[in-house]
Amino acid sequence: MDDGDGYFDERVAATYDDDVEMFDPAVVDPVVDVLVELAGGGRALELGIGTGRIALPLAQRGVPVHGIELSKAMAARLRAKPGGEDIGVTIGDFATTTVDGTFSVAYLVFNTIMNLTTQAGQVACFRNVAAHLEPGGCFVVEVMVPELQRLPPGETVHPFHVGGTRWGFDEYDVARQGLTSHHFEIVDGCIERTSVPFRYAWPSELDLMAQLAGMRLRERWSGWRREPFTSDSRQHVSVWEKPAV
Ligand SMILES: C[S@@+](CC[C@H](N)C(=O)[O-])C[C@H]1O[C@@H](n2cnc3c(N)ncnc32)[C@H](O)[C@@H]1O
Repeated sequence: MDDGDGYFDERVAATYDDDVEMFDPAVVDPVVDVLVELAGGGRALELGIGTGRIALPLAQRGVPVHGIELSKAMAARLRAKPGGEDIGVTIGDFATTTVDGTFSVAYLVFNTIMNLTTQAGQVACFRNVAAHLEPGGCFVVEVMVPELQRLPPGETVHPFHVGGTRWGFDEYDVARQGLTSHHFEIVDGCIERTSVPFRYAWPSELDLMAQLAGMRLRERWSGWRREPFTSDSRQHVSVWEKPAV
């Protein structure tokens, strides 16, 4: 990780797009539909733009997109794709990195807010976004609801995938709202292990971060088709807005 690419280094970037489910138009199109509507003819800022899973189809729908991305390896994959050269990417930490201009929508999808592993980092991210939004602009976050209800009392580990050649376990550190995802996979007869740290946050804590940054909740759904958010929802799509002057 000393290349500065974080957990999305060249090894991860090389196979990132193999996730057929997340690149399925049935998953991507509803995300893009919502973002086109919120962009309202203005510009979009993606935090953690990755290889352009959302940014490229959004740009194809006529929305100018700029990205902030920590991993040069991921950004290089985006740039190599058709249309990728039209999307500006600023390399840096999305909690603190600034870019020119303002945006009508900023978005942070696929649980990526959790890659910021401190509360201070997550608060800084909300403030950074608010500083980039036009008055009336929106910040959209897609993130899981912490799965503490799935932990038996006293246990800290929750298996999320148990297969023939691949296993995944989430390890919770409840005292510090920490979650480490451990991935084990048999590759060429050897077991490869990757452990990635996250910080989980409840929707109400994210609302407070938005409030600290001068934004307020406009919508909260359990999915991109605007499904209702309920006590059983396992993820949420939340839209905060910066008040119009
Ligand atoms: C799960 S991927 C999501 C990529 C893309 N948004 C998508 O939906 O496919 C998370 C991305 O966020 C980037 N990332 C994680 N933490 C970051 C940070 N603090 N600043 C900038 N980028 C970050 C990673 O390098 C990676 O490309």
